[in-house]
Amino acid sequence: MVKIAPSILSADFAVLGEDIKKIEAAGADWVHIDVMDGVFVPNLTFGAPVVKMVRKVTDMFFDCHLMVENPEKYVADFKKAGADQICFHIEATKHAHRCVQMIKAEGMKAGIALNPSTSLTTIEEMLPYVDMILIMTVNPGFGGQSFIETMLPKIKRLRQMIDEGGYNVEIQVDGGVNDKTSKLCKEAGATVLVAGSYVYGAEDVKAAIASLK
Ligand code: DX5
Ligand code: ZN
Repeated sequence: MVKIAPSILSADFAVLGEDIKKIEAAGADWVHIDVMDGVFVPNLTFGAPVVKMVRKVTDMFFDCHLMVENPEKYVADFKKAGADQICFHIEATKHAHRCVQMIKAEGMKAGIALNPSTSLTTIEEMLPYVDMILIMTVNPGFGGQSFIETMLPKIKRLRQMIDEGGYNVEIQVDGGVNDKTSKLCKEAGATVLVAGSYVYGAEDVKAAIASLK
């Protein structure tokens, strides 16, 4: 069964703890935490101190999506704050292998994200080392954008690469996921779906999460 990771980017930051408890009660599997530095992406969110605060309200799996330049600088801080997984962008570091080693040495799971324009060949050599590959289906930086359909064959090719190599790697999809696009992602081979505006914009959060499964 696919895992659902609502993105708190679309939550109400004035009551962030309550908004996390809400998705937990509604059957979400992971909390997707979007960290933006205003350099790698044209937007800012928050850093490890906010993660540390919300760690107090839940034991849920914290999936931290770092949209920041030089992610290796922040690995130890996020571990201290209570992150369970760090997913960084392949475009944001010259040393992806070292960054994965650092994340693993801290006892966390490691993922690598790819922008829509980035080829799968950039992460091929990393498949034996990572726990997850994130295929961005929008350009990172903002919630509420439209799903880029041409990413579906990319997800399928990644599924094939993982299966052929016999790797134990999750395929996460992030951006424009709703009750319709989620089906296409699952058919293509995704195993973790991120959804921000679709989940937090819903009147019935539980029904919205169920509709993605
Ligand atoms: C985009 C973020 C996403 C975002 C998704 O840069 O990485 O996680 O919150 O939002 P929706 O689901 O609204 O496209
Ligand atoms: Zn994200």
